[in-house]
Amino acid sequence: MSTAPVLPDGWRLVALSSVGSTNDEAARLAEAGAAEGTVVWAREQTGGRGRRGRSWASPVGNLYSSTVLRPHCAAARAAELGFVAALAVADIVPEGRATRLKWPNDVLVDGGKVAGILLESAVGQSGEVQHVVAGIGVNVGFAPDLPDMRYPGAALGGTVETALEKLAAALAQRLAQWRRDGFAVVRGDWLAKAGPLGAEVDVKLGDELVRGRFGGVDGEGALLLETASGRRRIVSGELLGRAA
Ligand code: BTN
Repeated sequence: MSTAPVLPDGWRLVALSSVGSTNDEAARLAEAGAAEGTVVWAREQTGGRGRRGRSWASPVGNLYSSTVLRPHCAAARAAELGFVAALAVADIVPEGRATRLKWPNDVLVDGGKVAGILLESAVGQSGEVQHVVAGIGVNVGFAPDLPDMRYPGAALGGTVETALEKLAAALAQRLAQWRRDGFAVVRGDWLAKAGPLGAEVDVKLGDELVRGRFGGVDGEGALLLETASGRRRIVSGELLGRAA
């Protein structure tokens, strides 16, 4: 028998057997005033959502969780939390397995995608973020084999309960680091686990495919791409294979 996951002090777990999307449930709770550290966890999602309008296959056996965050920052800084969340996932990968972070916030283990992160924010009229829902799906028991995946999948192993406990603890620590040390330090930790600078990459910008070399990320989390026609700063796009 598995025991109920233990979350960091002051955090609260809302455990569900099945839900459409944990992000939707967490947003609903946030709108109703739920505090930072409210974690919605479901054994399965019937309408799991990924980035760019994709769906996220969510049968029983993997981790689906969404955490309410109250960063009290300007909307333009909310994307920094994607790097915070990706580092938290990287922190729970068992030792000995090769971990790589891929812009903006994918986590690869042994070359396969092990987690997906979907940040959704509510912004007030003043431009300050009211809440961010950090939705994190982690392959724990198995790697879904989907026809439209650009990467093979990977799974962490272990139990979903243990993965949730570790993830919540890592997220709390990475959030504290972000608040204490700022994005520059988070960005440095992220870059240390990203592909090598100068690696050849392709970036999909809508229908356009831009080819270049990975130049890291800037102080606002934008991707820097060194192309034949000069440096490009990319705020939103999809980094595709080749080396990084
Ligand atoms: C991606 O496209 O890579 C992001 C996938 C995010 C999936 C997680 S699972 C928990 C949370 N609830 C959702 O509906 N999506 C996120």
